[in-house]
Amino acid sequence: MSEQLDILIVSEEETITNQVLNSINREENSVTVIESKDVSREINRQTRDFVIFIQANTDYAVEQVQYVKSIHALTYVIFLATDSDISLLRNIMRAGAEEFFILPDELSLFISRFPTMQQNYKLRVHSDQESAVVFGRGRGQIYAFYSGKGGTGRTTIASTFAQTIKLESAAEVLLIDLNLQFGGVETIMSLETNRSLVDLKPVIHELNENHIRNVSQTESHSKLEILISPTDAEAQEIIDGDFISRLLRACRRSFDFCIVDLPSAIDENTVTAMEEADKLYYVLHADTPSLKVLKHFEELSERLGMDLKSSMEIILNQTSKEMELKEKDLKELVRYPITASIRKDYKKVQTFMNKGEPIRKAQKEKLIPFSKDIRKFAKSVLS
Ligand SMILES: Nc1ncnc2c1ncn2[C@@H]1O[C@H](COP(=O)(O)OP(=O)(O)OP(=O)(O)O)[C@@H](O)[C@H]1O
Ligand SMILES: [Mg+2]
Repeated sequence: MSEQLDILIVSEEETITNQVLNSINREENSVTVIESKDVSREINRQTRDFVIFIQANTDYAVEQVQYVKSIHALTYVIFLATDSDISLLRNIMRAGAEEFFILPDELSLFISRFPTMQQNYKLRVHSDQESAVVFGRGRGQIYAFYSGKGGTGRTTIASTFAQTIKLESAAEVLLIDLNLQFGGVETIMSLETNRSLVDLKPVIHELNENHIRNVSQTESHSKLEILISPTDAEAQEIIDGDFISRLLRACRRSFDFCIVDLPSAIDENTVTAMEEADKLYYVLHADTPSLKVLKHFEELSERLGMDLKSSMEIILNQTSKEMELKEKDLKELVRYPITASIRKDYKKVQTFMNKGEPIRKAQKEKLIPFSKDIRKFAKSVLS
């Protein structure tokens, strides 16, 4: 395959078309601009690498995206919307589009992201394995960490997991602390800040990447983005299920991985986050009291009508030779897959906590057993 990409622009908007054309390297790519009525003919004529739709006043946008993907599933579809009709955008993504941007605000974001998308596309096409790790906006994964019992290691695991993915891949990663009452992530990551996710409330209906990055903190070693929870009682009252759901959807659009640290208390916010998550990692200790709490959580979630069968996985924490139950016993007692086991590493983990330093700081560094286990877990997720 030649390195030249075939880019098709579907547009009736001359000004936007010209702005997009100016941002594409015309020597390295072959670019064709067509009108929306010519989509089927042009798609059938030859294989297209990229199709960029600039929203027109037609009702066929969703069908056209579907059609492009049905002819050649690898074609990378980008939708540039001229208004932020959320239900239209959701349907566009469902139809298989890789990305969307809302103009005019996000035009510069699109332009800055386009080279990465081209690289991702080339990787995807060149890769022998279909499962190559490809990152792109619009279909970021939400991984939530939960446990019905407090103090099981959610915050430590979620933040080290996020840090590991950020350090060991090219992905954009966001860590979100939803412990609205007590927080916790800011201590482990030693952040001092007066901004929290509640500051997104005024813009929650039009939330975009810029808003999120204005409020999030950047961890200085890995450049992981972190959204801290508010700690004053008044701020918490502003947050409800609708807020959580809008927040997570916007985060998913802008980051490849959104790692959510959840509190043990089950309320509207926790339930919404669990439902939005692609994976719910339940952090479990291998002892009878912890299994009882897990059973109780299963019953409660069933009563609440939550379907966790396909999304919930177990992360075994604090494993050791003295464990009351062995992993093979647990496999028989628990009906969810055990995705990772993390060794008990009290002294070394505590040293970091006492120094107020994040456990992972560089891609190449000496790893304590806890970090090695988290790395194994993170690698299994990335591959
Ligand atoms: N594998 C491990 N080995 C040693 N210590 C650990 C391990 N996992 C967690 N810890 C320690 O256990 C304590 C509780 O961990 P953490 O705060 O992450 O739990 P949590 O589930 O988030 O608790 P909370 O209910 O307070 O939110 C911390 O002191 C942490 O350092
Ligand atoms: Mg915690």
